[in-house]
Formats: sequence, C-alpha cells, structure tokens
Amino acid sequence: MELTKQQQDMLDGRYGAGKAKAMQVLKAVGDGFRAARMVPITRAHVALSAQEADTWFARKMRDAGAVCAVAPTVNPGYCLAYFERAGVLDEKKSALMRETHEVYRDLGANLTYSCTPYLFGNIPRYGEIVAFSETSVSVYVNSVLGARTNRESSASALCAAITGFVPEYGMLLDGNRLGTVRVTVEADVRDAFDYSLLGLCGGKIGRGVPVFCGLGAQDISTEMLMGLGAQLNVSGVTELFHIPGATPDARTEEDAFGGRTPERCVTITQADLEQQSQQLLSGAPDRVDFVMLGCPHYTYEQIVEAARLLETTPARVPVWILTSAANIALARSNGLEALLERCGAHLIADTCVDESAVWGRLAGQHGATDSPKCAYYMRAFGVQNAVSRVEDCIRWAGKGGRGE
Ligand code: F3S
Repeated sequence: MELTKQQQDMLDGRYGAGKAKAMQVLKAVGDGFRAARMVPITRAHVALSAQEADTWFARKMRDAGAVCAVAPTVNPGYCLAYFERAGVLDEKKSALMRETHEVYRDLGANLTYSCTPYLFGNIPRYGEIVAFSETSVSVYVNSVLGARTNRESSASALCAAITGFVPEYGMLLDGNRLGTVRVTVEADVRDAFDYSLLGLCGGKIGRGVPVFCGLGAQDISTEMLMGLGAQLNVSGVTELFHIPGATPDARTEEDAFGGRTPERCVTITQADLEQQSQQLLSGAPDRVDFVMLGCPHYTYEQIVEAARLLETTPARVPVWILTSAANIALARSNGLEALLERCGAHLIADTCVDESAVWGRLAGQHGATDSPKCAYYMRAFGVQNAVSRVEDCIRWAGKGGRGE
C-alpha cells in the first residue's frame, strides 16, 4: 500500500508512539484487503462496549500517548448512575465502566454512548468517508445516508479516529457499492417489526448488496430502515442495501445495479417472514418476567408509541427502554418519562443489551423484546426472549408474568 509522507511519518513514529501503533494496525488491515492507499476520514464511531478486551486495547493506545485526530462518538456500555442506584454493580463492574469512560475521554472521544449516532450526535452527509463500527450503524450509514464506511471493528475504528485515515477498500470503492442481488419482496411488510423479519432473511439472500424491490418506498420510516439494516447485518453480514426510491444511491432499480445484471435473484415470501416469526416465538411466551426495548436504541417516536400502549395497558413486570441520553433529556423535560414510570417502564441511557455485567443477573428469566438482535445477544448469557412486535410485548407485560 502506498502511503503519503505524512502517513509514513506517522507509521515511523514521528507523530508519537500512539499514532504509530494505530497506523500499524490500519496498514495491516489495508495490506490484508489489498488497499492501494489510505484516505482521510471526517467522522468515526467506536463500538467501545465496556468489555475488558476493548478497554484493554483503548488503554494501550492512550498509554502510548494517542489522542484522536477525529473525535469519535462511542457505543453504549452501561449507565453507572442507573445500575449503581439499582444495586446491580459490584466494585469490579463499576470500575470497568468507570475506566472505560476515563480512557475514551483521555483519547478525546465524544462520550455519547448511543448506538444510533446517525440520528443525533454524529450524522454523516452523503458521500462522506467515515470509520463507523457497530453492526446496526455501519449498514445504516452506508445505505440510508449514502456515506461510506467499512464494517469497522471497535479497534480499527479507534485507530482510524486516532490517525484520521482508513485504508481504501470495500465499501469505500464505487464498484463495490452497486447492487448484486435482486430481492423481490412478495410479502406484506408494513411496520418496523416486519422490516426486522425481512432483515432476518439475510441467510436466504446471501452475501452481496441486496436491492429490495416491491416495497412501498414512500411509506418507509426511519425505524423500518433501522430494523432492516440491523437484522440484515446480524443474519447476513450485509454492509449495504438499496431500496429503489427510498435510499440515496438507488433512485431507480437500474441506478441501484449501475446498469449491470444482478448476480442472483431471490424472492422473499410471506411464508419466509412467518417462518422467521415462528422461530422467534418458539417455546414462548408462557411466562414473561420483563420486557426489553431499544436494540438499536429507541427513537423518540418509538418511546412515544410505547408510552401510548402502556397508558392503556400498564406493565406489571419491568419494561426497560434503552435509548440515547438526548432522548431521555427531552422525555424528562416534557413529562414523558414520568408518565412511563407511572406505567411501569424505565428509560435507560448509555446502555447496550449485550452487557452481561448488568443483564447477566437475568439469567434463567423469560423476557420479551421487539428486537431479534436483542434476543440473539441475551441468549448468550442465559436469558430467553420471546420476540414480537412492541404491541405484543407490552400486552404480555400487562399480564404480570403470564404470557398467552
Ligand atoms: Fe445497540 Fe447494543 Fe443492540 S449496541 S443495537 S443495544 S446490541
């Protein structure tokens, strides 16, 4: 890979040991993908996760003197104030989150702790080259905003933030951003949950850049696009998708494929969606001990919708709604948070469902969620989740521990 003088100087340590280490990592990634050069980034988002290995890497960079050239936003870990008050954290777990906070602050990150930075706090414009990690984020940024990022790891995104560069390969190159798989949707796809089910068909769609045809482009909401991208990237390792008429690189189907013939054609039927839905519900819900919403972090509109449902059916088991601190500030100032609390629901900032430090205590319990991604991660630490639309989750919560 050809480096500019500035990049070579960084690699050689003339900008300090921290930047040299970060450049070594990026050079190795670039060589692995046969990138021809490094290009500057304008933004970064780091999936910090507050897990020991990620914090270890960030600490190593900080201790080598690294400071970010491009201040990244960061993914959620867990909200110390909320969980310390709830008596959930022992000293070790509190110390890890506290250290994570300190290390990233020292590195110069913007401590937003949200996994929807593309809605607030870090919104790339069309065509910007950025380094974003987090499964649900990179696909949204590529597909819906038309910015360009590879599926960075937390480590590579941090190295990009430290140096201000990324190797140019994959999703940064025009030719790799064209559609390759034509997906005909012959199913009734009407709300965000349906779009999540469609995303779960990523295994059937296979590798490549899917172009979804047959969706009512004008009726697609932000939440639908979030649900589709999050599940596609979990189930099918999808970096980018197009929906003609709805996403910016696909005004038309022809645009989406760049005039080329699709490599494959796949049809998603109602039966495919129903099969996904039945799998998510299998073995549940004869009992619901809690409801978890907000993976990815709930938008403000989703919080309002949950409150509307809870007003009719107050919860008799805890309902946790994960969202950004910005949404909570708004909900607190206008009384929405107080209404939710009266109905048995709690807004939690800065927190991810994939944190055994705070959710591991739920092992053996039965939950409900509207997010297949949430269920996937929580299963890893022994929590079973029935997955269905938010209306069902809140209805189950209102039954006080009994499912259907
Ligand atoms: Fe966000 Fe964590 Fe889910 S980062 S998308 S809450 S797994």
